[in-house]
Amino acid sequence: MQKEILIKYTYFEDYNSLEKEDVVLINKAYVALENAYAPYSNFQVAASVLLSNDEVVVGNNQENIAFPSGLCAERVALFYANANYKESVKTMVIVSKGNLIQNSQVISPCGSCRQVILESEKRQCKPIKLVLVGQDKSVYVFNSILDLLPFGFGL
Ligand code: THU
Repeated sequence: MQKEILIKYTYFEDYNSLEKEDVVLINKAYVALENAYAPYSNFQVAASVLLSNDEVVVGNNQENIAFPSGLCAERVALFYANANYKESVKTMVIVSKGNLIQNSQVISPCGSCRQVILESEKRQCKPIKLVLVGQDKSVYVFNSILDLLPFGFGL
């Protein structure tokens, strides 16, 4: 029997047309982008995370000369949130700067980050809204990591 999975997302041409809470979160991610440490890839990524108490934590990619020792922005932000707060995560914004991915307007989290976001959703029993911001200001909004990682390990 053949089955299908439907992935839903909302596309906006310009992130300024999102609700104010999301625009504020995007602006905080862009501030955090300046502290990305990416001398090897020259591709900067930042993630901002809105917690259920309305505090915001941010992360950015942190590279290392021993390549596998670095970490993506999304995991830096989420691990920091989980290490320091009991609050659940409502929204994660991801922004980027650089030319690593040709013709790509939007950065979508890597497989390892998807798995970590999935576990956070499972721990808090609530979906995390994902706001993926393109370098041209376009936005893809997903209501849950389940839309980006169907059949994830551990489900
Ligand atoms: N990177 C992230 O921070 N998040 C992702 O979702 C994908 C990739 C980082 C890792 C590395 O520092 C740089 O981007 C190039 O891969």
